[in-house]
Amino acid sequence: MLHSPNTAETDLPRHVAIVMDGNGRWAKQRFLPRVAGHKQGVTALRRTVQHALDRGIEVLTVFAFSSENWSRPADEVNSLMKLLALALNREVPLMNQNGVRLHFPGKKQALSERTIQSLAAAEMATQNNRRLVLNVCFNYGGRWDIVDAAQRLAEQGVAITEDSMAAATALAHVGDPDLLIRTGGERRISNFLLWQCAYSELYFSDVLWPDFGPEAMDHALNDFARRERRFGRTSDQLKTAGTGPHA
Ligand code: FPP
Repeated sequence: MLHSPNTAETDLPRHVAIVMDGNGRWAKQRFLPRVAGHKQGVTALRRTVQHALDRGIEVLTVFAFSSENWSRPADEVNSLMKLLALALNREVPLMNQNGVRLHFPGKKQALSERTIQSLAAAEMATQNNRRLVLNVCFNYGGRWDIVDAAQRLAEQGVAITEDSMAAATALAHVGDPDLLIRTGGERRISNFLLWQCAYSELYFSDVLWPDFGPEAMDHALNDFARRERRFGRTSDQLKTAGTGPHA
């Protein structure tokens, strides 16, 4: 079921989120332009989706373009936009073959009309797929998400509570991540899923994103399987009650 957090009965995270960091350094190490790292990053994403399918993960949420990435050099921003368009053309048929449903959480207004339309078309083309939900966060920022949700609730005259906020944020369709992985050696959340990661387990990998694959992901999944998720309670309490933040 999509909205329950992972529980003690299963050691596999239901929902994995990833900050795909390290593309630039991967390219620099090879004396290549940064965009070469991003291209390789798309390949790593394809591998990771396949591995998530193989392992039976239900939801994968990745950070492809942050609200702050607009401040990168214009040619890098343009390359990322082009890469998105290319990836959509190439990958959507594959997503359909594999039962992957696409969503693009993020602020749409700043994107070109063409990009907005291709994101909507990809969401529509994959809407009946049920094996894996892939959220590609594009022009996304955790603070934007919280403010946007609060503003919409205020406009609608809905009381702001934890439940109404959770239902109004950009990942309401999938619930919170059980595991947040960041590649590339940095240990920060960098304005990713600030609301949704309140109880997520954090895992930091030194592997640069373009090198990420099944082996590195299994390290993260095995590490997760050894964690005890207490959601604010004691270890003893967990033994006598169900798990989950509201259980
Ligand atoms: C961070 O690496 C990565 C990004 C800002 C872009 C992530 C995009 C992809 C993995 C490609 C998939 C994207 C689309 C459009 C489908 P960095 O450039 O900050 O690396 P660095 O920290 O080594 O400089």
